[in-house]
Amino acid sequence: MQGKFIVLEGLEGAGKSSAIKTIESELTAQGVNYIRVREPGGTPLAESLRALVKSVHEENVAPETELLIMYAARAQLVHNVIKPALAKGHWVIADRHDWSSQAYQGGGRGIETEKLAALADIVLKGLTPSLVLYLDIDPAVGLTRAKGRGELDRIELESLSFFQRARERYLSLVDTHDFAVKIDAGQSMEHVHQDVLATIKRFLA
Ligand SMILES: Nc1ncnc2c1ncn2[C@@H]1O[C@H](COP(=O)(O)OP(=O)(O)OP(=O)(O)O)[C@@H](O)[C@H]1O
Ligand SMILES: [Mg+2]
Repeated sequence: MQGKFIVLEGLEGAGKSSAIKTIESELTAQGVNYIRVREPGGTPLAESLRALVKSVHEENVAPETELLIMYAARAQLVHNVIKPALAKGHWVIADRHDWSSQAYQGGGRGIETEKLAALADIVLKGLTPSLVLYLDIDPAVGLTRAKGRGELDRIELESLSFFQRARERYLSLVDTHDFAVKIDAGQSMEHVHQDVLATIKRFLA
C-alpha cells in the first residue's frame, strides 16, 4: 500500500516548519509511519545543491541556473528518498516541493509555465501530492518573521514584488487543485496551529 505524500508550501516565514511539527505530532498520535524531508535538500547531494543555490555568489546567478539546481536537487530527493518511502507504505511530509519552483522560478523569475512543466515531467514522473497545505502570508509579514530567525539567504533577499508574484502564483495553484488547502498564515500561531490540525484530521478521517 502506497503512503501518502503531504506537502507544505508558502513564502518565507509563513510558518511551514511550525506547521510540520503539528502534523508530525498528529501522525505520531495516529500511529502513522512517516519521514520528513525538505526542499531543496533532503539527501547529501541535494543538501550540497541547497547550500549552493541559497548562498550569495560574486557572479549573478542566472534564473535558468537556479531553476536547474532546484530540479536537480528535487530529482535526487524524489528518486532516492520520496518514491522509495511511499512504496514502502511510509508517509512523506515535505517542507516545500514542486509548487515552490512554480511560485519562485515561475511566478517570481518569470520562467514560462511550459518549461517548468517539461522539467517536472522529467523529474517527478507523475508523482503528485496527496495533500498540499498552502500557508498564505503577506510577504512583508513573512519576511519580518524570517528576519527574526537569522540572516537572509540569496533568495530571501529578493524584492517584495518578487514575493508578491510568487504569492499570486501559489494562490492560482490552490484554486486549480482539489488536493490543496489554503490556510491563513497571518493569524496567531495558535489559530494557524488549529487550522493545520483540523486539516490533517479531516485528511486522516
Ligand atoms: N502565526 C505566526 N505568528 C507569528 N509568528 C509566527 C507565526 N508562525 C510562525 N512564526 C514565527 O515566524 C518564524 C518563521 O516560522 P517558520 O520557521 O515556521 O516559517 P517557515 O515557513 O518554515 O519559514 P522558512 O521558509 O524561512 O523556512 C519563526 O520564528 C516562528 O516562530
Ligand atoms: Mg522553514
